[in-house]
Amino acid sequence: MQFCVGGCCSRAGAREALDALLESLKAQNALGPDRVSVIPVDCVDMCSDGPICRILPDRKTARRVSPAWATRLGQDLAKDRRARK
Ligand code: FES
Repeated sequence: MQFCVGGCCSRAGAREALDALLESLKAQNALGPDRVSVIPVDCVDMCSDGPICRILPDRKTARRVSPAWATRLGQDLAKDRRARK
């Protein structure tokens, strides 16, 4: 997944939301290249809706991502990954 850490998103709380996502994935041992990868990216031209994250490969876009939502996203991604095994 891509997580925007551009200026607008950072001012809107992207760093806190990104940290929450990473902590959530780490807590479930779901973070890593062969697991869920999180790539910080620069501005994706959706500044008014930031913080923004995109879930690949379908590029589903989440807007106004809060730390609480990011934590739940990490839990859901870890659960989905376990279900696919
Ligand atoms: S800084 Fe994130 S969309 Fe522009």
